[in-house]
Amino acid sequence: MKVLMVNSSTHEKGCTYTALLEVARALREEGIDSEIVWLGVKPLADCMACGYCSENGRCVINADAVNAFAEKAKTADGFVFGTPVYYAHPSGRLLSFMDRLWISAGKDLAFKPAAAVASARRNGQVCTMDVINKHFSINQMPIVTASYWNHVFGSKAEDVAQDKEGLQTMYNLGKNMAWMLKLIENGKKNGIGHPDNVTDVRTNFAR
Ligand SMILES: Cc1cc2nc3c(=O)[nH]c(=O)nc-3n(C[C@H](O)[C@H](O)[C@H](O)COP(=O)(O)O)c2cc1C
Repeated sequence: MKVLMVNSSTHEKGCTYTALLEVARALREEGIDSEIVWLGVKPLADCMACGYCSENGRCVINADAVNAFAEKAKTADGFVFGTPVYYAHPSGRLLSFMDRLWISAGKDLAFKPAAAVASARRNGQVCTMDVINKHFSINQMPIVTASYWNHVFGSKAEDVAQDKEGLQTMYNLGKNMAWMLKLIENGKKNGIGHPDNVTDVRTNFAR
């Protein structure tokens, strides 16, 4: 089994990365592979709402990480989306990435467990998690929790290394992700797959 993680900070080895490493450590102890995908520093385009992906299953913008990640998502079992806090919300890069990933490849993420991880110098992680969690909850993805909200404190990686409670939370998040993945796997072996929910009704307003 494999968990795909995203580091959406411009710092390749900064606070978000340090938090994700601890999740990876716990997963590894449970025999689960993981990969941290860094989104880099180049601008990442927002969704063009062009409709191309609903016809072709791929985003029309090929120049960044979205389509490559979507390919990997097909065989991944779980996901962690990590971000620094920018003015009490996720990085714009992560939001653009997730919007386009969801609209072009949401079906390959559906029913797979996922978690949000946020890093801030001081505050805003909880609002940041709320934003990311909404992507999971609109796409039938079980949300993995930890022993505290999934966040760390720091301005640089060394600060996060000192945030013992934050790291413990990350470690427990990895353990909880592993537990959920094993339950799902075991369920599949015993004939319990995810429900085949019908989603063909589409109305643009509520009566
Ligand atoms: C544009 C911008 C906005 C930020 N907004 C906040 C904020 O609202 N609250 C906070 O505590 N830290 C804020 N920070 C600090 C970062 O969230 C913090 O340093 C983070 O842990 C860096 O993670 P990284 O090393 O993975 O990039 C902000 C930083 C930047 C660049």
